[in-house]
Amino acid sequence: MKVLVIGQGGREHALLWKLKQSKDIKELFSAPGNGGTAEIAENVDIKANDLEGLSKFCEDKKIDFTIVGPEAPLAEGIVDLFNKKGLKIFGPTKASAQLEASKVFTKELCESEKIPTAWFKTFNDAQKAKDFVKSKGAPIVIKKDGLAEGKGVIVANTEAEAIDAIDKIVVEKAFGASGNKVIVEECLEGEEASVIVLSDGENIVPLASSQDHKRVFDQDKGANTGGMGAYSPAPVVTDDIFNETISKIIKPTIAGMKKRNTPHKGVLYAGIMITEDGPKLLEYNVRFGDPETQAILPRLDSDLLELIERAMSGSLADFKLKWRKKSCACIVMASGGYPGRYEKGKEITGIEKARELQDVLVFHAGTKLEKTNKILTSGGRVLNVVALGDNIEKAISTAYKACDKIKFDNAHFRKDIGFRAMKQEVL
Ligand code: AMP
Ligand code: GLY
Repeated sequence: MKVLVIGQGGREHALLWKLKQSKDIKELFSAPGNGGTAEIAENVDIKANDLEGLSKFCEDKKIDFTIVGPEAPLAEGIVDLFNKKGLKIFGPTKASAQLEASKVFTKELCESEKIPTAWFKTFNDAQKAKDFVKSKGAPIVIKKDGLAEGKGVIVANTEAEAIDAIDKIVVEKAFGASGNKVIVEECLEGEEASVIVLSDGENIVPLASSQDHKRVFDQDKGANTGGMGAYSPAPVVTDDIFNETISKIIKPTIAGMKKRNTPHKGVLYAGIMITEDGPKLLEYNVRFGDPETQAILPRLDSDLLELIERAMSGSLADFKLKWRKKSCACIVMASGGYPGRYEKGKEITGIEKARELQDVLVFHAGTKLEKTNKILTSGGRVLNVVALGDNIEKAISTAYKACDKIKFDNAHFRKDIGFRAMKQEVL
């Protein structure tokens, strides 16, 4: 089978690495890919947002099916385009990708399907939004509708901060013109975790739980990033929390989408807050998490190709995944300055030395393979250093040993990945 994976991050390298182990894979392609995907797949120089270019490539190369990594092509309707052309693709249609692309859509779905989430109100008018904030007080959360690469959410600790955020979204359009609508939302307290499932439109198969670390510096300080590290499973997601998330959040969503004639086929990733009243939905993504996927797939014993094929063909009912009884940690090594300005083109050394350690994998993100075979940095998040271990603590300590072998100028990584899980394991 010939499979194309769209995207260029660590998530896509991990997907390709796992697919490569399936006996039915003949050729793997990666568009546009990175320095690591080039080791196991053929990198094709087509950007993830070039929908026409990607579909033409699949027609010409007779690709059997395509997996989409990032959200933007899904929100743009890549699945609808491929379906129209009779090309097989794994992911939600544009209508169902609204679960990620429109926070208003998801909040309204939660309301009608009685899915636990923060209370909310949507406004087109800045003054009305501000009056509502004053009536509720702080802390309060202000969100822009539409995709904003994680920048459209402001957790305001004071009313003044909330009012400033409303002006930024509605008046200054600081996060893009799509931000006409603003959501004012209850500020939930608790611990965050990720529950990711695959759906065939009706049935679901859950992956193991995980937890991300969104802030750039230790102890969750500094700016929000795409994610600085992850581990799986997340001990805070007990069996009860997991089952409640599936039964009260995920299943009603899948049923609600089917009822609306926009069945959700693809990945559904629930970002949840574990509150005193149980898990509540913070947000949905309609794709695999990054870096969560890098910490989940190494634990998966089952065949990823079979899982995805079953999701595409509507035969996930009664399909159970097998997991290795190991924990997995992923540390993101980033370019100094990320998520702000950073330099590119720094030579990376030590990757092979890190990989020689037992139970260690290194997935590439922002890297480029030079003709000279040197690997250079080419993005903010550069590498994902991943390790398996008998428990979270062991996985994390091996991952950090591996990080110590890898060098590039101005490399930055968090030193406290997994601190919450370790607290939990000790308890
Ligand atoms: P989102 O893109 O909606 O997941 O929001 C990004 C981040 O903002 C989340 O990972 C949370 O840390 C935080 N956040 C979003 N909504 C809320 C909320 N209602 N209460 C508290 N924190 C929130
Ligand atoms: N790790 C956060 C995300 O994939 O959106």
